[in-house]
This record gives sequence, C-alpha cells and structure tokens, in this order.
Amino acid sequence: MSSLLIKGGTVVSASGRCEADVYAQNGSIKTIGSALNMPADEVVDASGQYVLPGAIDPHTHLAMPLNGYSSQDDFETGTVAAACGGVTSLIDFVDCRPGDSLYESIERKKSLARGKAALDYGFHGTIIEDRPELIAELKPACLDYGVPSFKVYMVYDIRVDDAAILQLLAEAKKHGALVQVHAENPAVIDYMNRVLAQKGKLAPYYHAKSRPNLCEAEAIHRMLKMAELTGSRVYIVHLSTAEGLEHIRRARERGVEVYAETCPQYLTLTEELYKSPGFEGAKYVCSPPLRTEADNRALWSGIRTGAIQTLATDHCPFDFHGLKDRFGTDDYKKIPNGAPGIETLLPVMYTAGVAKGRISLEKLVEVLSTNTSRIFGLRSKGEIAVGKDADLVVFDPKQKFTIQSGKLHMNVDYTPFEGFELEGMPSLVYSRGLKVAQWTGSQMEFCGKPGRGRFLKGRPLAGGV
Ligand code: URP
Ligand code: ZN
Ligand code: ZN
Repeated sequence: MSSLLIKGGTVVSASGRCEADVYAQNGSIKTIGSALNMPADEVVDASGQYVLPGAIDPHTHLAMPLNGYSSQDDFETGTVAAACGGVTSLIDFVDCRPGDSLYESIERKKSLARGKAALDYGFHGTIIEDRPELIAELKPACLDYGVPSFKVYMVYDIRVDDAAILQLLAEAKKHGALVQVHAENPAVIDYMNRVLAQKGKLAPYYHAKSRPNLCEAEAIHRMLKMAELTGSRVYIVHLSTAEGLEHIRRARERGVEVYAETCPQYLTLTEELYKSPGFEGAKYVCSPPLRTEADNRALWSGIRTGAIQTLATDHCPFDFHGLKDRFGTDDYKKIPNGAPGIETLLPVMYTAGVAKGRISLEKLVEVLSTNTSRIFGLRSKGEIAVGKDADLVVFDPKQKFTIQSGKLHMNVDYTPFEGFELEGMPSLVYSRGLKVAQWTGSQMEFCGKPGRGRFLKGRPLAGGV
C-alpha cells in the first residue's frame, strides 16, 4: 500500500480550479478535499503551485522504422523524457508492414514497449493497405485489442486511396472507431518537387515550399467530405494551416463529427527557421512543414474556440548530426522527416499559451489531458477525480528555465525549442502515484522505473466530446 498526499496546491480541471488537497492510494485518487490530514508515505507541500492532470501525448512515433533507421527514442528513453516534461501517458503509432495483420503489428509494437516503458501507453493502428482482412480487423481491434483509432496517410508510399478511405470510414462507423488522417495532397507535392528541382531549389527551406498550405487544406477538405458522405467521425492529426482549420470549422457547422489536433511547432515556430544558417534548417523538416505567423495565430484561435480539441507532439526524433545532415544536404527531399518534442510539450504550451495570455490554464488542461482521454477512450486518465489514476503534475509557475538540448532527456542531439525561455516548469511528476520526475534546482531528473508502464486499452468513443 503506497500513499501520496499533495497539500495546499491549486487543483486545475478543464472547467475550473480550486484550492484542494489530493490523496492517492495504490496509484489511484481516493479523496480530494480541504485540510486532508491522513497519514501518507509521501506528503508534498504544493502551496503556490498548480496541481494538473498529467499530460497525454496522443501522437508519438517511438522506435519507428524509416529507411533502415529508427526514430531515436525507444519506449524507455521516450517515456523517461516524457515524464521529465509532465507527460504521463502517450499513444504511439503501430508501424504496419505490408501483409501484416493489425494484430501482428500491435503485438510487435507491444513487445518493444514491454519491460521498457516508464509510463502507461496506448496504441493507434495504421492502415497502409487496401486489404479486406485489415478492414475486417477494425471490429476486434475496437472490442478486443483495445485499439479503437487508426491512422491513414493520404501521402507517402504508405498512403491509401480515397476508395479505401471511404471503406475504412464506413467500417469504422459500425464499431465506433476513430479514423485519423495525415492530410496532404501527394500530387501537389510531386508537382512542386518537380518545379523546385528544375530551378535547383533543394535547400531545407524548399521543403516548406513543396507543401504549400493548399496541399493540406485540399486533403482535409476531401477527407471531411468523405466523412460527411459516410457519416463517420474523423480526427485530423497535426493540423498546421489556417485554411485547413477553416474547412474543419465549416464541416463542424454542417454536423460532421470532426476532431482536430495541432502541435507546439505549428503554434510557435515559422517557416523562416528553414532559412537558418548552414544546414540548420533541416532540424525543422517535418511534415506538414512549419507555416507562418498568421497560421500560428489561427491555430491558437482554433484552440480557444474549441475547433481544435487536442495538443500532441508528433514526436519523431532524428539526430541533426549523422542523420538529418547525412542524407539531405543536397536535397530537402532526402532529409528524414520528424522532430523531437515530447519533453517540451507541457512547459512550452504553458509558456506560449497560458503565460502569454492566449489560452486559460483550464483550456490547457482540456486540450492536453481531458479531451485526449475522452476521444481515445482512456477512462482512467485525463482528470483529477476520485477513482482516476494518480497521474499528477505539480507545476510551478514561478520556475523559469531556458531550454537547452543538453539538459533534456530525449535521445537526440537537438531541440527545435533551443533557447526558448520557459515561464513555468513541473516540479514533481507522478504516474499512478509513483514519483517519476522532479525538478533538481537546475533541470528535471527522472526518478521512475522503466518497465513499470502498462498497456492502456482504449475504448471507442461513446457520444461526442
Ligand atoms: O514528419 C513527420 N511528421 N514524421 C512523422 C510521421 C508523420 O507523418 O506523422
Ligand atoms: Zn503524419
Ligand atoms: Zn506523426
């Protein structure tokens, strides 16, 4: 029997905040009230600090294979880094190989997490082929495997065509599954790649030019029309453009059940970074690319108004030295796509969102925890409430920290947020009542147990969010 009592903090939910003590036993929250004085193995004085539900990152690529390499964080380093940033659960993408069943690919990914993950984790399936057996597996995935969400790509060589997407949407609707989409138009990218190559424009900056806003907006619009036709719910991953957001807003007004996710990089960084000296712009090569300040502003307004429901990282790290700069110096198309972010999600979003007055702290909790747990059916997570897991972050709004890659725990040699001045940091992080990370006075340190993380069975979303 282990117990934890957090006293004197301001407990924050998606709907408000109050001064309260939180008592947890054996990993779950037992009592929330004032002046609690039960004995506990660990008693924390949180006065002057916020007590937040741990953030849930619903979009990570741990140990993801790419062209003979792997994204560099595995389930151990990735969850250690996550814990140090106040993320207490994540949902990772299962990597499918041609011919695999969903079951096989889920089991393979589970075996990568088992014995390594320091935090609880769930999975999204990935549908990379138009095969009837795969579509038929949606039902057991929702009911038995605990994987009720599936990503399809409209780009890359793992894309499926509109006919397959329509079938998938229709089947998903029968079982309450959620289809997630990476929405970009591949014909636009091919065309722009050719135009840019003819002009010899191959530096990292042209990665952004090869995927203009309309490339995302058109694909989102098409996807939303397909969801409208089939009456299925749909989730847009890593939304990056004002135009895409506008299509989402209009579709919602027409009654389409659409959810949208964006990421810190699309809210705080711009395409100007691709012009960084030397080859440094390659650090920001991810798809979709970084956009403009006008897009950043539109996405913040999307969060404020509820058109965007979740924040995620799309954490997919590749070293700058040795990987990004090994393959892409003569052509942006060869730069491994992806960027790290799992450790900086909460403090960057607190600083850029709450401290800068763009969103309330309650909204931050909603988009980092509460909506995410509801959309992906992680019933024990996402809120500070009796019966929920004691996944808690004691957050100090007075603690400043300048981001330096060398002080972070992600297994990668850079961060897109180098030099970013944080105006608040987690001071203590708990996963099911166990302390997993703490502020040392100069940086975060991990103090959890790799291998303790459990697979979280997701359940299909009942009703809307
Ligand atoms: O560039 C990115 N985002 N890489 C990760 C895979 C994806 O598309 O989400
Ligand atoms: Zn994607
Ligand atoms: Zn991704």
